[in-house]
Amino acid sequence: MDKETIKKKIRRLKKEKNAVLLVHNYQIGDIQDLADFLGDSLGLSREATRVSEDIIIFCGVKFMAETAKILSPEKTVLLPRLDAGCPMADMVDVEGLLRLKTNHPNATVVTYVNSTAEVKAESDVCCTSANAVKVVQNIESDEIIFTPDRNLAAYVQRFTNKKIIPWEGFCYVHERFTKDEVIQAKKSHPDALLVVHPECPPEVIDQADEVLSTSGMIQLAKLSPVKKFLIGTEEGILYRLKKENPEKTFYSAGVAKVCQGMKVTRLEDLYQALLKEQHAIKMSETTMNRARKSLESMLHYV
Ligand code: 13P
Ligand code: SF4
Repeated sequence: MDKETIKKKIRRLKKEKNAVLLVHNYQIGDIQDLADFLGDSLGLSREATRVSEDIIIFCGVKFMAETAKILSPEKTVLLPRLDAGCPMADMVDVEGLLRLKTNHPNATVVTYVNSTAEVKAESDVCCTSANAVKVVQNIESDEIIFTPDRNLAAYVQRFTNKKIIPWEGFCYVHERFTKDEVIQAKKSHPDALLVVHPECPPEVIDQADEVLSTSGMIQLAKLSPVKKFLIGTEEGILYRLKKENPEKTFYSAGVAKVCQGMKVTRLEDLYQALLKEQHAIKMSETTMNRARKSLESMLHYV
């Protein structure tokens, strides 16, 4: 089937099945073009609580589809590819987290949404890259266990005197940005603004003009008078930035970095998932109920 035919069929099936398509900013351009809502983890979580359709079809990675299911348990949530994973989400294990909690009985557990439902269930509150600082600043406790991203934890630590105990997880995509390459990129484009994701290493963040979630970057690009941007995050976002700002120029801040989990989903997978209503997200009621508490606490800090 050619691209346009399959896109047409996807649009028709969405209507017939009363399905809504939620898409993350790192997805391939063809899928971004079909989105009913395109956004970052926080925006997508909020949207999942608002949609009226029976089926949510989620093009992103598994933890995002799980989050949508936890927040909208009465909906069918479909993930077109079961292998669309986030390695960072799998870096925390429940047993390890329970041990850490035992060692720090007064600590509040803040978990980045890039985590499994089981880990969210053992946490007090979730956060995304868009609201992590706000979430931590609003917590009463002076001690915080922060999982799974050590780089986001270190970034948040810059804005609080609370003691943050980081889990030593990381995103292999953002970890690949180096101080040398962003300095080189700035030399090559001295009039460009360097905008990086807080999952980048601290020495890269030190070089940045702005540190933002993916939708924060979309907003900044739209509103800023600046015409050139160096983008320190997964390359998929460049498609949207260029499409929405044709008069501006966007470069990757170094060698383009690709997230495999975000890129496995193709149009054919989306079509098959809708057609067969396949790969419905399922979790135990107990896990969902406990994880929902942490996610709902996060949604107060939008
Ligand atoms: P955002 O919430 O900023 O879109 O980030 C999600 C993600 O997976 C970053 O690697
Ligand atoms: Fe996970 Fe990193 Fe991919 Fe985001 S970019 S989904 S954190 S592996």
